[in-house]
Amino acid sequence: MKNRAKINRLVSAFLLLVGLVLPECTAYNLLVLSPITTPSHSNFFKPVVKALVDRGHTITYYNGLHQKQAETTNNHTTSFRVLGSPSLHKISTDHQVDFNIRDKPMKFLAELPEKMENYCTTIYTDPAFHQLLNSNEKFDLIIIEGYLNDCSLPLVAILDVPFIYMNGVAPIPWLLNAIGSPLALDHFPNPVFSFKDEMDFWQRTVNSVSSLMGVYLRHLFVMPVVDRIAHKMLKRNLPTIAEIEHRYLSLLIVNTHSSINYQLPTSPAVIQAGGLHCVPSKPLPRHLESFVDGSGDAGFIIVSFGSVLKGADMPTNFRRIFLSTFDRLPQRVLWKWEDQSGTNNDSSIPPNVKLISWMPQQDLLGHPKIRLFITHGGLFSNQEAVYHGVPFIVMPVFADQPINAQKAHDDGYAIRIDLDNLTEEILYDAIQRLLTNSSYREKMRKVSSLMRDQMESPLERAVYWIEYVIRHDGAPHLRTTSHKLSFIQRNLFDVLMFVFTLTFFFLFLVFYICRYYIFSRGGVRIISDQKKTN
Ligand SMILES: *[C@@H]1O[C@H](CO)[C@@H](O)[C@H](O)[C@H]1NC(C)=O
Ligand SMILES: *[C@@H]1O[C@H](CO)[C@@H](O)[C@H](O)[C@H]1NC(C)=O
Ligand SMILES: *[C@@H]1O[C@H](CO)[C@@H](O)[C@H](O)[C@H]1NC(C)=O
Ligand SMILES: *[C@@H]1O[C@H](CO)[C@@H](O)[C@H](O)[C@H]1NC(C)=O
Repeated sequence: MKNRAKINRLVSAFLLLVGLVLPECTAYNLLVLSPITTPSHSNFFKPVVKALVDRGHTITYYNGLHQKQAETTNNHTTSFRVLGSPSLHKISTDHQVDFNIRDKPMKFLAELPEKMENYCTTIYTDPAFHQLLNSNEKFDLIIIEGYLNDCSLPLVAILDVPFIYMNGVAPIPWLLNAIGSPLALDHFPNPVFSFKDEMDFWQRTVNSVSSLMGVYLRHLFVMPVVDRIAHKMLKRNLPTIAEIEHRYLSLLIVNTHSSINYQLPTSPAVIQAGGLHCVPSKPLPRHLESFVDGSGDAGFIIVSFGSVLKGADMPTNFRRIFLSTFDRLPQRVLWKWEDQSGTNNDSSIPPNVKLISWMPQQDLLGHPKIRLFITHGGLFSNQEAVYHGVPFIVMPVFADQPINAQKAHDDGYAIRIDLDNLTEEILYDAIQRLLTNSSYREKMRKVSSLMRDQMESPLERAVYWIEYVIRHDGAPHLRTTSHKLSFIQRNLFDVLMFVFTLTFFFLFLVFYICRYYIFSRGGVRIISDQKKTN
């Protein structure tokens, strides 16, 4: 039995190696547009781009994290080109998010139109963008990062190619709306709130109103900004970006999976490929291996607040709580801390704690001596922890982190602590519970096996559907027709109004007929009956 499983695994590894799991394909020319991005969102793009290049396709990757100006002009000798610019790099590396943002989640939304204006102006003055605009290159498909990249849409119309949105987070309501997939507002919580899939009346109201408002605020306040600037700066006769989405959008690939996200019914044009960046761990660099191996039976803990929040920005009081808690532990602690100046010789840092500016997170999570993970609850970190089966403490700060944290907490494989509640006792107690109570490890084992039990890997799934869309000229048959309906029609408000009006009218009619019979004819009969008995 065991041997057979081994042979099966060998065979499938071999098939994977020679690329037989995915259908044979001709080489295509793809354009990937992610001029506005973050290091974590690009985690979702890098594996896909690499897999596409490995399968023989030609990729042009316009990446906001790439610093240098485009140096090659239409160099067809290589199958992979990266375009970028210093100004986009500045935007994509500095989104000005810090530990205080949890106090003002609405601020971000309010600033969106102004931000969009800045993004569009920067992109439309970028030589790399104009290189794409003026190239007469024939692309087979465009992939656009589905968040804050509305300014790239005019390029789709100019190149006249189908495009897909790929999105490193849970599906945002306006993307679901654009592709014509149900918003499922009765049970799919908007990622910006910490609701669960079972919501009471008020939560459902907030969930519905905010999600629908998000969709329509984009139409009212964000899209017109892009249209205006595109018209002004690109000096071409362009359709509006709403029309471009309507005509060319073919697929939406999102970063969710049924094992760790709330369930979402989707149209066939939505592909859930959550965790596609998760890979088995590799051996650690020598200095890290000797540090974690020296932890003995106690094992080690890793601490990381992701790539947008810098450990070095953490307020001093939180930092002190962490350090004094770690000082009480037999475990060794690796802490991702970007600012190296004067930290490792700081006397307040306990001897069992090591600060490092970058950590190979998946290799550490896959290490046999890892005991637990302390994280901010970014989706990528949650997925890695689940993939490698490591229970975690989660301290969410902003965006979708609270809802990710709450789900993991409710499912019993993580403990959520709010930064506002953080004390040494609470942190120490949570660490001890995770280390000693086997229920967390047991729950983690279960969810981890759910995440790994898939017909094909999420990466293979994403690549398959990207090629599928090209093979079938944008695969328009996958899309539901509901994106053609108006706001009122889509949400069935017109039908509800009609049914309510009809019911009301009917009840009114019944009421009047009854009144007529009781008080006039009925009344008459009663009176005449009374007369007879008299
Ligand atoms: C194209 O790229 C290849 C590899 O980077 C380089 O060797 C070659 O000189 C480039 N050709 C042109 C015309 O820039
Ligand atoms: C810590 O070390 C750095 C260089 O490694 C040095 O510049 C700094 O002055 C030191 N700080 C203290 C407090 O000794
Ligand atoms: C934080 O403290 C508040 C008030 O004491 C409490 O309602 C909340 O549940 C706490 N949060 C967590 C995650 O423990
Ligand atoms: C372990 O944790 C679970 C879930 O929080 C709890 O129900 C259980 O009582 C704990 N067991 C012990 C021995 O503390």
